[in-house]
Amino acid sequence: MANSDTQAGWDYHNATKHSHHSVRSNPHFLDWANQPLPFKIYPQLPPTPLPGQFRQTGKPALRAIAEVVRRDNAVPDLQAVSQLLYLSAGITRRRVFSGREIYFRAAACTGALYEIELYFVCGLLPDLEPGLYHYAADRFGIRKLHSGDFRHFVVEATAQEPSVAHAPLIVICTGTYWRNAWKYQARSYRHFGWDNGTIIANLLTVSASLEFPAKVICGFVDGEVNRLLNVDTEREVAFTLIAIGHVPDLPPALPAEISLNNWETVPLSRREIEYPAMRTMHRASSLLSPEEVVQWRRKAVLAKVSKPEGELIPLASGETELSYDSVEQVIMRRGSTRRFARDPISFFQLSALLDRATGGVPADVLNPFGTMLNHLYLIVNAVEDLRSGSYFFNREQRGLELLKEGVFRQEAGDLGLEQQLPADASVAIFFLADLKAIFERFGNRGYRAAQLEAGIVGGKFYLAAYSLHLGATGLTFYDDDVVSFFSPHAQGKSTVFLVAVGKSAKPS
Ligand SMILES: Cc1cc2nc3c(=O)[nH]c(=O)nc-3n(C[C@H](O)[C@H](O)[C@H](O)COP(=O)(O)O)c2cc1C
Repeated sequence: MANSDTQAGWDYHNATKHSHHSVRSNPHFLDWANQPLPFKIYPQLPPTPLPGQFRQTGKPALRAIAEVVRRDNAVPDLQAVSQLLYLSAGITRRRVFSGREIYFRAAACTGALYEIELYFVCGLLPDLEPGLYHYAADRFGIRKLHSGDFRHFVVEATAQEPSVAHAPLIVICTGTYWRNAWKYQARSYRHFGWDNGTIIANLLTVSASLEFPAKVICGFVDGEVNRLLNVDTEREVAFTLIAIGHVPDLPPALPAEISLNNWETVPLSRREIEYPAMRTMHRASSLLSPEEVVQWRRKAVLAKVSKPEGELIPLASGETELSYDSVEQVIMRRGSTRRFARDPISFFQLSALLDRATGGVPADVLNPFGTMLNHLYLIVNAVEDLRSGSYFFNREQRGLELLKEGVFRQEAGDLGLEQQLPADASVAIFFLADLKAIFERFGNRGYRAAQLEAGIVGGKFYLAAYSLHLGATGLTFYDDDVVSFFSPHAQGKSTVFLVAVGKSAKPS
């Protein structure tokens, strides 16, 4: 199946939409006795503990969220690697619910199921040998899967992408189908993008705080990266790469044939249920050769400047002065808000959220820098000095276009899968994308990128909100109802993501 066969992408998207009918007629239930393990465990490999001391960078999170570092000769040491991993995917809280312990992590994740695993390859770093490692979040350690410098292998798989070629450290994120599909069934492939995105939002922000350049890579030969990780691709697949740091030299070449260890892993559940639509979507969005990667990468989206159709309300400026809380503080206190007070946030705060979260993501697929695949539509329930109603965020013009004035709390709740959270929040921010244009340009891989971008920007909304001592939560939604609500403006677009922000009913 080819990446350009976009019928496969549309089929997956349409088959995994939520509607009132699909939700009410779904007989699925949670089989608690078969709940998957939230961690990947290699029983033959004892993890090496990571340093527990972090650098308190003091870098204000509200700044770091939107910062892009350009620095040559930027090499993380083991402590920095530890900080990057922990503040992106480490366990930050433990809670017991109905006798079960849940390990909450640094980044939000659908259903707290944590299906994204982190691996990394590195050259020789201060205090760390070259190797391919897996992050053992449960043990606050790393497991060395292979000794040696495997960066060249990844560089080849990305067709010599320059930031990867010069990275001393390359993080590889995978998605494990069953761990999320246990609850969400075939929709989990969308969740790979969302949940990988929130992790990457943290990773980019922590990289900025430590002054390392970082770039998200969506274009790589899937089969090659999966082969390096030695994952069973029926269960787990590589989803994204993040190049971190910079060195002038290219990594040494590897022998043509490398032999990879085949480590045992602990089964996630007694049995796993298959949802073939996800694997089909994955295959259909896979890139098969470095030549295909090169062709794919050339297809930059040209940023389209949209002219406001109605009155444009400019964002307030001076927003970065609203909080000096550091990256470390903000990530450690982040959590998803479980109940919002119906109190208003200020227009300054809303402006800060929008400005910081949408400042641009360094990614191969978002070229030129600043391109966004998703468009933001808002239901404003309670923002001081802003009329309640629905809005389009005109990002190029840094302003909000009023689509319809009115009180839409009830509608916000209904669109968010009939949950109370978006009804009580101050603002519900919906991400919609022109999937037709994205499929045309990027093939099925564009679908992955659109979900991922939404997760990254959604993760930045979380961090911006917590910087401002507000609350936030990601949410799921009734796909087509959202488009209808924002139409005619949103006609022809598809719903990708939802995040709600407001004041938490419980002080953080
Ligand atoms: C993309 C995304 C969608 C989510 N959807 C919902 C939702 O529909 N309802 C809900 O109550 N929580 C939702 N959450 C919140 C998760 O349940 C929460 O992130 C998870 O339990 C981990 O908790 P934490 O964010 O407090 O660390 C969502 C989170 C994400 C990232």
